[in-house]
Amino acid sequence: MLVVLEAKNLTKRYGEVTAVDNVSLTVEKGALFGLLGPNGSGKTTMIKMLTGQTRPDSGSAAVLGLDVVQDPVGARGQVGIIPEQETPPSFLTAMEYLEFVAAVRKIPDIETKADWWFDFLDFADKKNVLCKDLSRGTRQKLMFTQAFIHEPALALIDEPLINFDPIMQDLVKDYLAGYVKKGKTIFISTHILEVAEEICSGFAILHKGKLLHAGPVAELTSRNEHLPSFFLSLVRKDRHV
Ligand SMILES: Nc1ncnc2c1ncn2[C@@H]1O[C@H](COP(=O)(O)OP(=O)(O)OP(=O)(O)O)[C@@H](O)[C@H]1O
Ligand SMILES: [Mg+2]
Repeated sequence: MLVVLEAKNLTKRYGEVTAVDNVSLTVEKGALFGLLGPNGSGKTTMIKMLTGQTRPDSGSAAVLGLDVVQDPVGARGQVGIIPEQETPPSFLTAMEYLEFVAAVRKIPDIETKADWWFDFLDFADKKNVLCKDLSRGTRQKLMFTQAFIHEPALALIDEPLINFDPIMQDLVKDYLAGYVKKGKTIFISTHILEVAEEICSGFAILHKGKLLHAGPVAELTSRNEHLPSFFLSLVRKDRHV
């Protein structure tokens, strides 16, 4: 199998805090890989390092064969990214923002592609509204759109479901499951363990920056275990170490 994401001994410190502590991971093409962990466990820091937004203190990582430390711009150019809690620029309309993304990413036929997304995520009525006047969930729809509109081979998405209503969560969940069936790969951080169990093929659990577990979801289900209870018992046990 082809490896599309590889982290080797990644470490990131912020002063006294070791946000990510010597983490190694590999993700194969076609996987929907869930990065799980309690608040402050290092998920966002991990995604920032994997997308060249922050440099590790030590270790290395490659996405789609591109070294994210040596060539962060090249690596960022190839993937789709939803950063945590990010919103589109307040002074652009939804459509202008997508035109801006299309110019940077050299995406052809942006009008047609954007219309498909406005329709799919049910926000066509907001196409020409300034982003500052969009609801939080609608801004998230736009962030979701910009990450996938160029159909990247690999998308790294940090808590993409958090602001969505149940209908939208369901729609997006199905979209992600279908996306990897086309041979694309998704690396998702989420606190919604039921969704992770349903759609992820593999997962990792971080706690206090350290990797507690990494493996296929099927390994749990084959022994009649559920991801949420597995997560809770592993993290609770580790809290008392
Ligand atoms: N820019 C920063 N400066 C200082 N400390 C930081 C910075 N970014 C993250 N940290 C610290 O690193 C640790 C990991 O944070 P991170 O945001 O990666 O966690 P997370 O798993 O994404 O949490 P959450 O589930 O709350 O989003 C935390 O202790 C956090 O306070
Ligand atoms: Mg986070």
